[in-house]
Amino acid sequence: MDVRGKVVLITGASAGIGLCTARSFAEAGAKLSLAARSTDLLEKLADELRGQGTEAIAVTTDMRDPEQVRRAVAKTFEHFGRVDILINNAGQAAMGKIADLDLDNFRQIVELNVFGPVAAMQAVIPIMKAQGGGIIINISSMVSKMKLHGLAGYACTKSALNMISDTARGELAADNIRVISVYPRMTATDFHTNALGGAPNRQRPSPTQTGPVVIDTPEHVAERILSAAIKEPEEQFMA
Ligand SMILES: NC(=O)c1ccc[n+]([C@@H]2O[C@H](COP(=O)([O-])OP(=O)(O)OC[C@H]3O[C@@H](n4cnc5c(N)ncnc54)[C@H](OP(=O)(O)O)[C@@H]3O)[C@@H](O)[C@H]2O)c1
Repeated sequence: MDVRGKVVLITGASAGIGLCTARSFAEAGAKLSLAARSTDLLEKLADELRGQGTEAIAVTTDMRDPEQVRRAVAKTFEHFGRVDILINNAGQAAMGKIADLDLDNFRQIVELNVFGPVAAMQAVIPIMKAQGGGIIINISSMVSKMKLHGLAGYACTKSALNMISDTARGELAADNIRVISVYPRMTATDFHTNALGGAPNRQRPSPTQTGPVVIDTPEHVAERILSAAIKEPEEQFMA
């Protein structure tokens, strides 16, 4: 899709990959609706983008609450009159081996990483059908393809999201709605410090392209997400 002038709703836009993705799409000429819980950070980003000539609004949203998700999509539609691209990016990890994974933490990330994207899809699909099409980009993770000890709770939320994306792709193809899974690998954001449970004092990793573990910058991931919106592959990897 040519993203110039298109309306893009990004969840988790207040920080990390989502914030960089908002900047990348703005630079490419898109109009932005920015969703997350942190109103101050969203307003600051919206101000920054508007200062550069981009039409942008902030919609404070807790993605674990389906009613708030519906309201965020409704506000986006009310303001812009359409929603061309939904980027389901908001997400969080919960650490812990199966033997001691905290079930409350697990439930929270299922609500955020699985229910949240589905609620957003359910809210945008009728709009996209009525306008003749659109793109839904679900941010998964490479860990959904691995078996990392202590990360099964988080990995299975992303595996669930993969299945939702794969199934929705077929269900929505006739309506010209494309569904794309994006698979970031380890990325230098505060994602690791924001994870629920696990060891205290975790730190933001430093980006590196050498050594056994590659760690991307969020700017690199954002460019891949923008590329996916333009080229529309079914799956987008980082390499
Ligand atoms: N960083 C990595 O290594 C990595 C690797 C693979 C995949 N990913 C995926 O990439 C996506 C972005 O991660 P990131 O690295 O940018 O993480 P991050 O820096 O921790 O940012 C997370 C974003 O999600 C938002 N968020 C968290 N809980 C929310 C809620 N209940 N409702 C609405 N928004 C919420 C946060 O905003 P508020 O706190 O303001 O709500 C923030 O904008 C996630 O889906 C993550 O699973 C990350």
